[in-house]
Amino acid sequence: MKKEAVILIGFMGCGKSTIGRKLAGMLGYPFLDTDTLIEEYCGKQIPAIFAEDGEAAFRQAETEVLCRLKEEAGNCVIATGGGMPLKEENVRYMREIGTVFFLEAEIETILERLKHDTQRPLASGEDREQRLRRLYAERLPVYKAAAEVCINTEGRGFYDILQELEQYIGKNTGAQSAES
Ligand code: S3P
Repeated sequence: MKKEAVILIGFMGCGKSTIGRKLAGMLGYPFLDTDTLIEEYCGKQIPAIFAEDGEAAFRQAETEVLCRLKEEAGNCVIATGGGMPLKEENVRYMREIGTVFFLEAEIETILERLKHDTQRPLASGEDREQRLRRLYAERLPVYKAAAEVCINTEGRGFYDILQELEQYIGKNTGAQSAES
């Protein structure tokens, strides 16, 4: 792998932040989360950005934050929001920053994980399940096209997933002791 930054993409609840944080710790890289960077950039939390400014404003902030990362990011692990690869421009930037890994999980697993979520505007409301199923079907091909590496996380523990990531990153992450 030439580019050292690791970029994780995938649907809400697929484990980008959890796995990304663990991986960063093992590689000794900083961990960055684009949703957190957007909240800092906009000075408010994501539900407030969606409610007050609209989804389009959030998407614009997403691209601006990524563009900044393109200039500033060195070796790091970056977890991205589930909608990041929807814009071709964003995919181009991500590939300039590092290697793009898609963490794939099944929709049933995701629905279960997001059941009590209150922080994701697209995963709330009465029609949430229908919306999540539709978004998942629309986005799956987008994630696959955007990714340089696809990792199937279904039914696997962190240790196993980290080990597979390690093979691509070519650096010993110490994943063997990471299961706990
Ligand atoms: C979104 C996913 C969220 C966040 C925002 C929109 C999406 O991030 O960026 O609520 O469009 O899928 P996570 O994937 O980290 O939940």
